[in-house]
Amino acid sequence: MWSAAVDPAWSVDAFREAARAALRAGIAPEDLEWLAGGQRGLLALPDVLDAPVLHASPRVLRSFLDIAETVLCHRDPQRHALLYRLLWRIAHGEPHVLATPTDADTRRVMQLAQEVRRDAHKMKAFVRFREVPGERDNFIAWFEPSHHILHRVAPFFARRFAGMRWAILTPEGSALWDGEALSFGPGGAPDDAPAFDAGENLWRTYYAHIFNPARLNPRMMRQEMPQRYWKHLPEAHLLPSLIQGAAVRVREMAEREHAAPKRRIPAPTVVPPTDDTRRDESLASLRQAAQACRACPLWQPATQTVFGEGPEDARVLVLGEQPGDREDLSGRPFVGPAGKLLDRALAELGIDRSQLYLTNAVKHFRFERRGKQRLHRNPEASHVQACRSWLAGEIERVRPQMIVCLGGTAALAVFGAGFRLTAQRGTWQTLHDGTRAFATVHPAWILRQPADRQAGAYEAWLDDLRLLLATAG
Ligand code: URA
Repeated sequence: MWSAAVDPAWSVDAFREAARAALRAGIAPEDLEWLAGGQRGLLALPDVLDAPVLHASPRVLRSFLDIAETVLCHRDPQRHALLYRLLWRIAHGEPHVLATPTDADTRRVMQLAQEVRRDAHKMKAFVRFREVPGERDNFIAWFEPSHHILHRVAPFFARRFAGMRWAILTPEGSALWDGEALSFGPGGAPDDAPAFDAGENLWRTYYAHIFNPARLNPRMMRQEMPQRYWKHLPEAHLLPSLIQGAAVRVREMAEREHAAPKRRIPAPTVVPPTDDTRRDESLASLRQAAQACRACPLWQPATQTVFGEGPEDARVLVLGEQPGDREDLSGRPFVGPAGKLLDRALAELGIDRSQLYLTNAVKHFRFERRGKQRLHRNPEASHVQACRSWLAGEIERVRPQMIVCLGGTAALAVFGAGFRLTAQRGTWQTLHDGTRAFATVHPAWILRQPADRQAGAYEAWLDDLRLLLATAG
């Protein structure tokens, strides 16, 4: 019997070194005891790194190392042994075992990898930074991951929130970003993070605003936002009362519709945006599910859902109002006249459109027919409301560092009804989690200005958009 130490327990380099030595010495899986993260074995077994070299160094496939890197983050104490058993089998006549989904080891390894990925997704979605009192742009978050994912996910936050200083504390370790470099330190306690702040009140207001009681599905909600995260999510404190009040609010909504038949939105044949889609968590599956949305009547006359486009890790999310005629036909946002003006502004500012995530508060074109023409009509608040879960899903997945709202409808979707575009345009607001957002006018509004005012309106708009340069560098 031999022992193999992997410290830290999730280190793929430490695992690879030990596994290589064991394979070179021809040590079978059942003759190897794996010791993770400084653990000591019952018996004082010789270290595998001292085993004699009997065979040539095996070639370990990149695909195996990729999956091993993920699986090693799992808490399952058997994971090292499982990975070594698979490696052994690959080296001993079963080179395609990882491609055999019916194999029990392969199934287990895939399941562990999926659980780690899911945990990483939850961390990206549910970390809530809180500003350290008295220190600008210095944030701390407390988070309790299920697995050893801090090292894996911290670089994501370093990219996302590069412009501020932050620390993420977990019971096992902490990640620190000083604005330039990422470092890791010891764990902390929940009380080491500051209490709720004003930014979180803003987030709570936003969440209460977007909460749609008619869509309430407590089971799904618990699945997507597991209860153990609730105590550190500002919005979660609202959930019990929102859930309790949901039945009453749904009744009120139904009665309101009854009383005002002209504005009535037919009962939605909703394809829930969450069920199947959220399962695989990706933006692509959300986009696909949105194609079947029937949450408001706009889908019927429209050609298609126009979902957002751009890199899934974009630092800037640009939010428009709704697709226009050209967007409706092409299925892509901002390709018509307003999009052309946006392209021109971006080019003048030296911003590469392909680096932005562009989307709309409402995903279907609202119009009225005049002869052959389809004339744009402003969406109503109910349409924005019906589309909220799509936008929330996009923001949750992209987790942009900055959000730019173009026009009043976009500002309504992000800041709520209290926001005043004329008074507050071009000023940064900080959302609950450190995401910075500002609103400016919509390019279509500039195009509608009388000829003598257009140039001035365009210049003022450029000035607002320059905020992106000052912050993003
Ligand atoms: N206007 C918008 O707000 N979005 C588009 O995609 C096109 C025009």
